Amino acid sequence: MDRREVINKTKEYARGRLGNETTGHDWWHALRVWKTAKYIAGKEGGDLFIIELAALLHDIADWKLNKGNRNLGSKLIRNFLGKLKVEKKIIKDVCEIIENMSFSLTGAKIKSRMKTQEGKIVQDADRLDALGAVGIARVFATGAKLQERLIYNPEIKIKKRTMNFRKKDSYSAIHHFYDKLLLLKNLMNTKTGKKLAGERHEFLEKYLKQFFKEWNSKV
Ligand code: NI
Repeated sequence: MDRREVINKTKEYARGRLGNETTGHDWWHALRVWKTAKYIAGKEGGDLFIIELAALLHDIADWKLNKGNRNLGSKLIRNFLGKLKVEKKIIKDVCEIIENMSFSLTGAKIKSRMKTQEGKIVQDADRLDALGAVGIARVFATGAKLQERLIYNPEIKIKKRTMNFRKKDSYSAIHHFYDKLLLLKNLMNTKTGKKLAGERHEFLEKYLKQFFKEWNSKV
């Protein structure tokens, strides 16, 4: 099968699986990551076919079902791409990227487990989607899904940039900014990723400033 055709089939498959997932890991997230990854690859190089496949498929295993089974994504991908007769080596590379994608694995302590240029690019594109205006929308969408996560809880002290990400620390959506989002700028792999993250990071800072101003009713 022609590579363009494989990409089109992969888009259809990803859209079918992700659909209207409501925590910000929906099809439109995958599409944004795909576009951003292609943009970064245009500046930084790398095997575009692997990058495109990994970007489109990176959240294919529903994270709620995926708890405790981080190989589910790879299993689905091997099956899907195998049917399309994609080379084994390419499938292996795509799966390796996806297995190493999650923030908790490659989080603040371990700087990056991504070994390949392709992985670094897809990871950057995914992290960029957690920043900026879209990133903010995604935090609150996820917060609404996680029942114990408030918009903000001023009674819990914010540990500024702890570089020690633990899920339990994300007591509120606003805490999650400090536990994760504000750390991402320094975790970018590529030069282009860093540049894009800088701009989106500034937007987060600006947003938080306004948020606290309103929260404290400073008019
Ligand atoms: Ni993602």
